[in-house]
Amino acid sequence: MNTTLRKGIDWVGVVDWTIRDFHSYDVERGATYNAYLVRDEKTALIDTVKAPFAEQLLRNVVSHTDLTRVDYVVCNHAEPDHAGALARVMDALPQATLVCDKKCAATLGQYFGDRNWKTQIVANGDRLPLGRRSLRFVETPMVHWPESMFTYVPEEKLLFSMDAFGQHYATSARFDDEADLAIVMQEAQTYYANIVMPYAKAVLNVLDGVASLPIEMIAPSHGLIWRRHVSEIVEAYRGWANHRPKPKVLVIYDTMWESTAQMAQAIWEGASQPGIDAQLIFIRRSNLTHIAAETLDAAAVAFGSATLNRNMMPMAAATLNYLEGLRPLGKKAVAFGSYGWGKGAAEAIDEILRNRLDWQVLGDPIRSQYRPTPTVLDQCRQAGRSLADWAQKTATDSV
Ligand code: FEO
Repeated sequence: MNTTLRKGIDWVGVVDWTIRDFHSYDVERGATYNAYLVRDEKTALIDTVKAPFAEQLLRNVVSHTDLTRVDYVVCNHAEPDHAGALARVMDALPQATLVCDKKCAATLGQYFGDRNWKTQIVANGDRLPLGRRSLRFVETPMVHWPESMFTYVPEEKLLFSMDAFGQHYATSARFDDEADLAIVMQEAQTYYANIVMPYAKAVLNVLDGVASLPIEMIAPSHGLIWRRHVSEIVEAYRGWANHRPKPKVLVIYDTMWESTAQMAQAIWEGASQPGIDAQLIFIRRSNLTHIAAETLDAAAVAFGSATLNRNMMPMAAATLNYLEGLRPLGKKAVAFGSYGWGKGAAEAIDEILRNRLDWQVLGDPIRSQYRPTPTVLDQCRQAGRSLADWAQKTATDSV
């Protein structure tokens, strides 16, 4: 495994091959927690890893240098997947100074209590000389926690970007040109949708802030290091943060006895127009992580559920609740669903799409009592065609 970013700068993180649930994020390809060692006249460890992997991180550091030679431990982000091992690491490196911003120090204090670690508080633009190289700190508040920070090595045009530009992907490859780019981009989109999407405005501020930095390599805290496709991932982030849609229509549904499924199928048939990526997603054969990733760049969404106990089905409600938190913006939408003797689902979905997701909803919800009639199925096909027309138009307008 090639772990060298530049001469004297190495990846010393860990690969978590077996994780599949990362605080409810379905990480189907596992994860990595990236840490980096910058060796110069002074040596700096950039970030740590999840607590259970502390010894593995220390072994990786020892493979490059004696632990007594580590002068600084930079904490870009206090979330436990990166700072969980910090207490063990600081115990193992008693001579080292913890380097972080003020908010990070406060957050670490809340996680670990007062540990009397030697600490150097840095602020936006501060520079820490290491010798031939230096570290410059770029505060990135709310990307995606208040204390988040990037560390930039100007002499190497190298950005340690913390969670930003990351992917959950366990692999022996360390660099973007060593793996299948389609998978890396897909995992980057899934990561952005599920972790970063609510903070789109903060992302745009950060992208503007780093636009002036010459960058040849982006080393995030998760997944592969960008060195060949830097401009592609930065441009992808700009598109996602601007809620730039693709000509894509999602038909997302849950069903009891297939009536809502038949409606969903008819909407999908209507949406399946030339140039449109129309996708049919049965919630209980999918997962929230995948649905969020697909919703990120969809122009339009049809969302349906059968009525159960005067409301939508539980996983439909969970999906809308999750999407509401992530705040995907600017979609055209339609609500649909079947019912028996008491309505509820389609109406409840319609209300959420309009008032909580703030999407532009097309007409009244489409309903079917028990089995959909040919008339209802025609109505569904027409709704699908309308969503496809919208998707084609908005995707073209946004180019
Ligand atoms: Fe990978 Fe926000 O922690």
